[in-house]
Order: sequence, then C-alpha cells, then structure tokens
Amino acid sequence: MGASPDSLLTRLNRRLHSYTLLPLSFRLRYGKLGKYLAYSCYVPGWMFEHNSVALAQAAYDLADDATILEIGSFVGKSAILLAGARKLRGSGKVHCVDPFDASGDPFSVPFYQRVAKRRQMPLIDWFKENMRWCGLTDWVEVYQGTALEISPSWSLPLDMLCLDGDQSPLGARAAYDAYIPFLKTGGIITLKNTSDRVYDEGHDGNRRLAVETIVEPQYTDIRSVNDMTFARKAF
Ligand SMILES: C[S@@+](CC[C@H](N)C(=O)[O-])C[C@H]1O[C@@H](n2cnc3c(N)ncnc32)[C@H](O)[C@@H]1O
Repeated sequence: MGASPDSLLTRLNRRLHSYTLLPLSFRLRYGKLGKYLAYSCYVPGWMFEHNSVALAQAAYDLADDATILEIGSFVGKSAILLAGARKLRGSGKVHCVDPFDASGDPFSVPFYQRVAKRRQMPLIDWFKENMRWCGLTDWVEVYQGTALEISPSWSLPLDMLCLDGDQSPLGARAAYDAYIPFLKTGGIITLKNTSDRVYDEGHDGNRRLAVETIVEPQYTDIRSVNDMTFARKAF
C-alpha cells in the first residue's frame, strides 16, 4: 500500500469497478454475500478472501436481530462484511469500536499510519464514507475510543464478538476480558491474527488468546480460517 493519496480518477475508477465487474464475479462464486465481499476488496485492511467469506457467513448465520461488536474496525474492511451480511438478513446491528487515530501496539502503528496517509481525511470519516458507499450506514453504530474506554458504558448482550484491535498480549487480553461477559452462551467469537507462525515482538496477543483461552470445554466449534479463529461460547 503506497503512501500517496488516491487521485479522484483512481477513486472513481475503483467505484465504477466495484459496482460492476467484481461484484458480478464474486456473486457467481459466493451468492448474495459476494456483493459485500467485492466492496470489502476495495477497502484497505488485513482480510484475506477465505476469512472474509467465513466472517460474512458467520454474521449471516446469526439469529434475527443479532448484535455484533467489532473491536478494531479501522476503515471498515471487515465491518462491511459483517454489516452487509446483516443487511441481507434484514435485521441486526454491527457496533464498531475504534479510536480511529491509527493508534495501537507499537508494531502495528506504522502500518496504520501508512494507510491513513492515503486519504486526507480523519479515519472515522473514511470509515463512514465506506459505510455510505456500501449502503450500510444504518446497519452500523460507531464508537470512537479504545476497547477499554468504551467498555464501562457497554451493556448489550452479544451474538458475535470480533476482536481485531490492540494486538499486544496485554491489549488483546484486556479487550477480551472486558467484553467476553457480554457474549451470549452459543455466541460466536472471532479473533484475527491467530495463525501458527512467528510473530513480531508484542504482536501475538490474539494468537496467545486463541491458544490459551479459546479452548474446550469453554468453547466449541473451534476452527481456523487463514489467520482467523472462530469459536462458539459453550457456557
Ligand atoms: C488490524 S486493524 C483492524 C482492521 C479491520 N478489522 C479491518 O478488517 O480492516 C486494528 C484497528 O484497531 C485499532 N485499535 C488499536 N488499539 C485499539 C484498542 N485498544 N481498542 C480498539 N481498537 C484499537 C487500531 O487503531 C486499528 O484501527
């Protein structure tokens, strides 16, 4: 990802493309979710095709009126998948918590900052623009702040909790501890960045959670898709 801002022409071209060719090919492969998988492709972030499909499908499979909380939304690549899936289902809400200031664990910050420089606008406005562009504004609720700044006022029971914020061991654990009491029994947890690989120092928070905490018997249906872990809270 380059650091120069995208030109108007690039953005127009991307938009034209995203409304036509890519959605068509993704729809052929993934059915109705394909439209949002295609939109998500045009948004910078760190999702791969297979975990995008799995994330969108998991959100789609939740019950009516599902409440989803995403910690770490950046400019909305994964939020588009979650909210698009709920829009297709016709009910539910995706709550997105992020400081929207490119902050985080020391390893990740330069990557966030590099992407942030591509647009001359605050990250929160970029996030909202992406939601508008996908017709998803009414399906998301935005909270500007860290996981721990927002958690004291959190009260909603969750059908799905997606952890992709601070990737440090302390930060990842703190977000998990703060929100896991709200995940319903039978609810789905997803953690990004959990594959079995060598991690840069201080960047293995979700990996540690997946190995140490997302285990039976507290969780069932535990599976990995690319660098993501999915599991169901058993009790
Ligand atoms: C890896 S990015 C999220 C990517 C996003 N899920 C996507 O698919 O594009 C992590 C995001 O979490 C944010 N973040 C960092 N620390 C956080 C914290 N303590 N609470 C919530 N979000 C945090 C970062 O600023 C960044 O926007």
